[in-house]
Amino acid sequence: MKAFSGWLPWAGSVIKVFVRRKAIMKILIIGATRGIGLQVLQQALAKNNDITVLARFPQKLTVEHKRLQVMQGDIRDNHAVGRATEGQDVVISCIGIMPTRKPVSVFSAGIKNVLESMDKNMVKLLISVTGIGAGDSRGHGGFFYDNIFQPLLLKTIYEDKDRGELLIKDSQLNWIIVRPGFLTNGSMTGTYRVLTDVTDVKAGKISRADVAHFICNQLESAEYLKQTPLLTY
Ligand SMILES: NC(=O)c1ccc[n+]([C@@H]2O[C@H](COP(=O)([O-])OP(=O)(O)OC[C@H]3O[C@@H](n4cnc5c(N)ncnc54)[C@H](OP(=O)(O)O)[C@@H]3O)[C@@H](O)[C@H]2O)c1
Repeated sequence: MKAFSGWLPWAGSVIKVFVRRKAIMKILIIGATRGIGLQVLQQALAKNNDITVLARFPQKLTVEHKRLQVMQGDIRDNHAVGRATEGQDVVISCIGIMPTRKPVSVFSAGIKNVLESMDKNMVKLLISVTGIGAGDSRGHGGFFYDNIFQPLLLKTIYEDKDRGELLIKDSQLNWIIVRPGFLTNGSMTGTYRVLTDVTDVKAGKISRADVAHFICNQLESAEYLKQTPLLTY
């Protein structure tokens, strides 16, 4: 018994190292200065991953951590995206812009850069956040959203998100497109619906923290590979 107990601390530390090693991934997050991206950053750091953030204004990022590296750049800048993508296992795009009626190209142009860089650097997985109203989720946001808000204030944004989604689907890479319902700043519950068939569905709310919870779970399981899950309570 005495000899056995001598082994225990050693065995424990081996197990700990193994568990820690297993969890560590190199992850690039684009759009982490706030919102879903910031939640992903915090949750992924808590799981011991190595994170790189690509941010237009790095000074906006309030998080500091020994496993966090911040690089300055815009998703529309091919070179900046290329540099940030080197050596990563996963790229997560959470970018968003304010409602506008002007033409929008940042989502498709950005994703094009991301896909090219991922291909070049053999990155294993892309997780891209679009939203309710993209692709076949259009018409599932409820009367006000489907008939007033989206057509009037988000039309050009969602047209460009659709272009981005098509580029992703046409790529040879592994991807998950995440379409949240209506975002709140509520806490993480871990309890929400993940819908791949939106027939008869009307999306409701979901917290940014729960969207991040889903994304972080996909880092481990990639259960929704090459799918476009809609997240809603
Ligand atoms: N609001 C809703 O109810 C709702 C519902 C479904 C889906 N969505 C979508 O979910 C996504 C995330 O939304 P959110 O509210 O959590 O975040 P958000 O406030 O839209 O934040 C977007 C992030 O994208 C970054 N970004 C914008 N343009 C960029 C560029 N050209 N290059 C690099 N980074 C750029 C911003 O960084 P900076 O600091 O540089 O600005 C910021 O960190 C958006 O696409 C949004 O449309 C929203």
